[in-house]
Amino acid sequence: MEPQRKSGRTLTTEQKRTLYRDGYVIIKNAVSKELVDAALARIKSALKGENLGPDPAMTNLVNKSDVTPVLHEAMGYFDPPVTCQVGVRKVTPPGEHFNQLGYHEKDQPYFAAEPHVDGSMTIAIPQTVQEGEPDDIYARYIASGPKGNLGRSPEVMGHNMVPMFEDPEMTLGLGSFTAFVFVCLNDQTQPGCGQTTLLKGAHHSVEKFFQWQYAQNGHVGVEGPGWPRLDHDVPNRCGLIYLPQAVQDEFIDEHSETTPDGRKWPKPTQILMEPGDACITVYQIPHSGTRNEFGTESRKTIIFRIRNKKRQPDKMVNGVSDHPDRGQMGEWLEFEPGNDPWERSKYAMCHMWDEWEGMHDTVEAMRAER
Ligand SMILES: [Fe+2]
Repeated sequence: MEPQRKSGRTLTTEQKRTLYRDGYVIIKNAVSKELVDAALARIKSALKGENLGPDPAMTNLVNKSDVTPVLHEAMGYFDPPVTCQVGVRKVTPPGEHFNQLGYHEKDQPYFAAEPHVDGSMTIAIPQTVQEGEPDDIYARYIASGPKGNLGRSPEVMGHNMVPMFEDPEMTLGLGSFTAFVFVCLNDQTQPGCGQTTLLKGAHHSVEKFFQWQYAQNGHVGVEGPGWPRLDHDVPNRCGLIYLPQAVQDEFIDEHSETTPDGRKWPKPTQILMEPGDACITVYQIPHSGTRNEFGTESRKTIIFRIRNKKRQPDKMVNGVSDHPDRGQMGEWLEFEPGNDPWERSKYAMCHMWDEWEGMHDTVEAMRAER
């Protein structure tokens, strides 16, 4: 990666080119040592099970750091986060359990990465091998969420509190926003310490895939064209298809590692950061946490989900939700006549730079170069 300007209040031209090309950019020292130390101290003093997301020591990592001016310039205005995801991953050996993809965790390549597009409903994956026809397995799976058996319905919620579909007509199978911010609080310069991993450059493929889906029948995301929800051809017979196979295939080659069944998996890139660094990505980037196998301490990354205010100027976005067109718990929100939130979100998903107002010149220039 190119040398980057320290503590810049806006992205350099080079950084914008990196963001366009890779789908993410790491900003060195985006957050001051004081803010990092305050967040670490707060994590240290947390009670068991305490949700630190709304604590100012966490939200200040965006609201009082260079992340805010950088995003204001590159993206546009957004609601200052009032909460966030505190991504702590303890040091853990490879696991026997089934992961979300239906494989034994220890068998999943690249530190058990499960690259996915965000906003996807996740019901806890069955820990026993499923029996029966695919339709039965699907029915059982969607009935095992926190709201019980509702059949195939936009009321179904995952254990991650994401709705199965965003819209009443079930044409939008993903929640969406504009930007991810990953703020690093501990030394993550060596791979295998639980880092966030990203499928570099795959944002272009995801955007194209969304466009293709939309052109087929207006359905976008999971359960749209080319993207079934479940894979039954996996060890537990009920794994989530977190990323459409067509997108995965573009990143698979002869070097790709395999699971024991011989299936190849795209190799993601672990983002290596130091305390105070922040990684900004577009929503469309496939990403995953990874197993903290070799760390000497828990991995600590604070994760924010940011949406450009222009998508829905009247709706408050809290900084953690990956489905802000519904309430945090799946509540239906009111929209004024003529405002179709699902269409707006599909448009944003299919046109990823539209909400990056400060990126337009870079995008135009780089498209012209190709
Ligand atoms: Fe995610």
